[in-house]
Amino acid sequence: MALGKSARLLATVAACGLATGASAADVEVLHWWTAGGEAAALNVLKEDLAGQSVGWEDMPVAGGGGAAATTTLKARVAAGNPPTAAQLLGMSVREWAQEGSLGDITALADEGNWADVLPQAVVDFATYDGKWVAAPVNIHRPNWLWINAAIFEENGLTPPTTWEEFNTVAAALQEKGITPLAHGGQPWQDATVFDDVVLGLGGADFYRKAIIEADLDALGSDTMVQVFDQMRTLRGYVDDNFSGRDWNLATAMVLNGEAAMQLMGDWAKGEIIRADMVPGEDILCIPAPGTAGSYLFNTDFFAFFDVTGDMKAAQDAMANSVISPEFQHAFNKVKGSIPPRTDVDISDYDACALKAKDDIAEASANDALLGSLAHGHAQTSSVQRAIFDVVTEHFNSDMSSEDAVEELVLAVESASI
Ligand code: BGC
Repeated sequence: MALGKSARLLATVAACGLATGASAADVEVLHWWTAGGEAAALNVLKEDLAGQSVGWEDMPVAGGGGAAATTTLKARVAAGNPPTAAQLLGMSVREWAQEGSLGDITALADEGNWADVLPQAVVDFATYDGKWVAAPVNIHRPNWLWINAAIFEENGLTPPTTWEEFNTVAAALQEKGITPLAHGGQPWQDATVFDDVVLGLGGADFYRKAIIEADLDALGSDTMVQVFDQMRTLRGYVDDNFSGRDWNLATAMVLNGEAAMQLMGDWAKGEIIRADMVPGEDILCIPAPGTAGSYLFNTDFFAFFDVTGDMKAAQDAMANSVISPEFQHAFNKVKGSIPPRTDVDISDYDACALKAKDDIAEASANDALLGSLAHGHAQTSSVQRAIFDVVTEHFNSDMSSEDAVEELVLAVESASI
């Protein structure tokens, strides 16, 4: 799919001394979109840029949440050889900008009036010190529960809307020999579930206090003990081989009927669509138990490193592409997310995306649009890592909820210093 050259791109290329129609430098892009649905979405961008004679040098580093990609990126930047752009989640955009490694795309952003068409919550992560340093491509919602509709129907089950209902349904499934919950045991996946439980049991205000403000009283509260109790219960509903499993393999278990449910962000929809199943019909999408009315969010940004010359021209071409309404429409339809631009018509998207759009509007109006901890929109990377460590250690041992809460408080306290 070629979206055509924008007048702005041509002006940029010409200004950099390249004849119009000649190829600008390649863009080298570091990212972690390696699952089938993710790669398909990335292709939308590659083809768009190819249509503008901008080549693509791929730098994939597998691993949801981007932990492995971050390690690679750090090594590249330390060696003085940053990529043209890197996929980053919100808090790390901020951290890289703080380090002084990112370039300045304010001129493009001003010319394209980005601030007028993006939600403030997204603008806040894309700008640093009054300058634009990154372009947002999507808004994902991590707090979804995906349900194999046929399994529920055959077993006469109703989708659970609270954690108590979830436990009842899961016990009934287990009794029939069906794995209730598909899960991949990796810290970011454990944390994705943890986010859901904190929000579902504690509510939006508790999530804000405990996770976004890292308030030690909230982190050490009885509610947090209940959260770890529920995490322990969930541990009993996953199969024996969950350890280390990639998220998309867990999604595949729900698609092929090996498991009934998965708690995962809507990048899972990329896999559903690729499997020729219908989101909202074959695989139901409902907010994670207890989280209806709230919306956890994370946005993938392309952050632009400080480059010059024809690399800068290619970088500008990429920035203009990813922010264009045509690109955002085509990309997010495949990726499973919704466009961050508020002026993109998504009436031809699937039912889960339409629900996402309604739900985000409702959550914003109720002050319940909250950054996801698991996906880099709630805490600095050091506090995030500290929480991941405790959550994962608890999930994979017989640690009591009380001990986990005590460790959580200590870990967050020392990571915050
Ligand atoms: C990213 C998604 C990605 C998912 C799994 C999340 O942190 O925001 O774009 O699909 O990780 O790889």
